[in-house]
Amino acid sequence: MANEIRKCLFPVAGLGTRFLPATKEIAKEMLPLLDRPIITYGVEEALAAGCTEMVMITGRSKKAIEDYFDRSFELEHMLKTRNKTSLYDAVVSIASMAVFIYMRQHSPLGLGHAVLCGEPVCRDAPFGVILPDDVMVADPSVLAQLIAVQRERGGSVIALEEVSPEETSRYGVVAAEIAGEGVYRINDMVEKPGPEKAPSTLAIMGRYVLTPTVFSILKNQQKGAGGEIQLTDALRTLARTEPVWGVLYRGRRFDCGTQPGWLSANIQLAMDNPNLREVVLEALKISGNPQPGR
Ligand code: UTP
Repeated sequence: MANEIRKCLFPVAGLGTRFLPATKEIAKEMLPLLDRPIITYGVEEALAAGCTEMVMITGRSKKAIEDYFDRSFELEHMLKTRNKTSLYDAVVSIASMAVFIYMRQHSPLGLGHAVLCGEPVCRDAPFGVILPDDVMVADPSVLAQLIAVQRERGGSVIALEEVSPEETSRYGVVAAEIAGEGVYRINDMVEKPGPEKAPSTLAIMGRYVLTPTVFSILKNQQKGAGGEIQLTDALRTLARTEPVWGVLYRGRRFDCGTQPGWLSANIQLAMDNPNLREVVLEALKISGNPQPGR
């Protein structure tokens, strides 16, 4: 059966306060992870899942993201005249990756509100959602794993990860029953519960396939935790209306939403790269043996 999930929504209108001052003028999704902006990894994941239209929900950061995924004739011309062929090819290929659609979230009212901003372009069919500050390295891509379950079972699908009881207060946590290998039927969810209130240790990670039913729920969604319109609150209601599945995804996740997480992601991915591995090991050697005058 043809994969009809063509659209993937990227909420990138958050304030990124945990990265200030770096994010004063640019979105955290534009910070580099090794050689390219964090957002590129999410777009590549969506492409690998068969999506061809990337719907960016932007805020103040609109310009840098829009320019990044567009042609840059001056730069291309300069690289061409200097015979920098591989860099030229890399720069040109960015704009032809997919179709990019931009919607503006005028005020950062919360993740649920950001998703609602995508309604005009996502209301006709199930669509993917990627929170790009969680970088996922997996084959098949994590979004592809979710789409496979959506095709088989219908409804909406959420990526889950088993966390330790001490960590539940950092995530949305689900109450669910097993429905297949690595697949759960979600009955309820709680935003950031302490270990005593958590219904399980299955935490929601930043990947979703949602049916357009979520929009009608979000339109009436009251503010929740932190005074924001929370996606998790709308998904609770959705789970009472139609099936919401949870998938224990297979792959590695790098939390690039915080400075320590982002730093660790850069180091781990550099260690995976044969050209950069030695650079990291050498830097660690130096930091372990501080030189006079350094
Ligand atoms: P976060 O919870 O990471 O918030 O949002 P944030 O504002 O980006 O960062 P901090 O907490 O201030 O450091 C999760 C995702 O939802 C998007 C963010 O851009 C991020 O991808 N988001 C959040 C929006 O698009 N709009 C919002 O109103 C809130």
